[in-house]
Amino acid sequence: MLVYLNGDFLPHTEARVSVDDRGFLFADGVYEVIRVYGGRPYLLQEHLDRMAGGIRALEIPFDGFDRLRDVAFRLMEENGVDDEGNIYIQVTRGAAPRKHAFPPADTPPTVYVSVKPARRHPDAYYEEGVDAITTPDTRWARCDIKSIALLPNVLANQKAHAAGAFEALFIRDGIVLEGSHSNVMAVVDGTLVTYPTCNYILAGITRDRILALAARLGVPIREGAIPVDRLHDVDELFLTGTTTEVMPVVRVDGRPVGSGKPGVVTRRLMEAYRAEIGR
Ligand code: PDD
Repeated sequence: MLVYLNGDFLPHTEARVSVDDRGFLFADGVYEVIRVYGGRPYLLQEHLDRMAGGIRALEIPFDGFDRLRDVAFRLMEENGVDDEGNIYIQVTRGAAPRKHAFPPADTPPTVYVSVKPARRHPDAYYEEGVDAITTPDTRWARCDIKSIALLPNVLANQKAHAAGAFEALFIRDGIVLEGSHSNVMAVVDGTLVTYPTCNYILAGITRDRILALAARLGVPIREGAIPVDRLHDVDELFLTGTTTEVMPVVRVDGRPVGSGKPGVVTRRLMEAYRAEIGR
């Protein structure tokens, strides 16, 4: 498996980064995960645009986005990813002696790209729905940046895993914001409800597509809060994300949500999304 690191294409086992890399020392960087369907990256430009926003916010001197696009295509070809796969891109502030403040402006960012074959989650997850748990949101107040500092997400997801659940839902001030690696949407009296994009959630690329598909299907949309104490009263609940796609949630903290089965609106959106990705 070939990967790209700082200008070179080399075997995954030979790729090395410095122990002084600010990604290693400070989690000082951003990443993207992009899905490949039918040998074609899905919404690649949208992901690169979001990454550019994160890089601007963090003031990392990097502007090689056209190159990243070419690298992704070359790796898909070299690694024979001609059907389903994942592209992973990470850019950090580069390697420099450990000091909190930024290194000299000419420090080259560390740029890493991998492309691997990857399968979707088992059909049963989509057909029967999955469990989620709730957990306090202990993250920082810039969740809109897709930072590689994922410790709260890692701990929350592990907690879900240990409970036999697929996802952990972050709760801040009594509001359900998003999952550890997905956005969350509810259906209440026929209206799709999801938290508005702001500094407390990631503006999911899939979230955006689902809102567009819902609008096309004539499903009313309200970008607003889902209070955690109303979570078990919603009619339907589902997750959206690049690797998660559209996934129904049928139980939260061990108690059924809605009918305890994937809901009608969820299934319509799952179908519309599948038609779009050609699966
Ligand atoms: N996760 N919220 C969080 C915290 C996420 O990490 C993700 C994506 C999403 C969904 O965003 P998108 O639709 O753009 O993938 C929402 C990626 C896939 C990951 O960390 O693996």
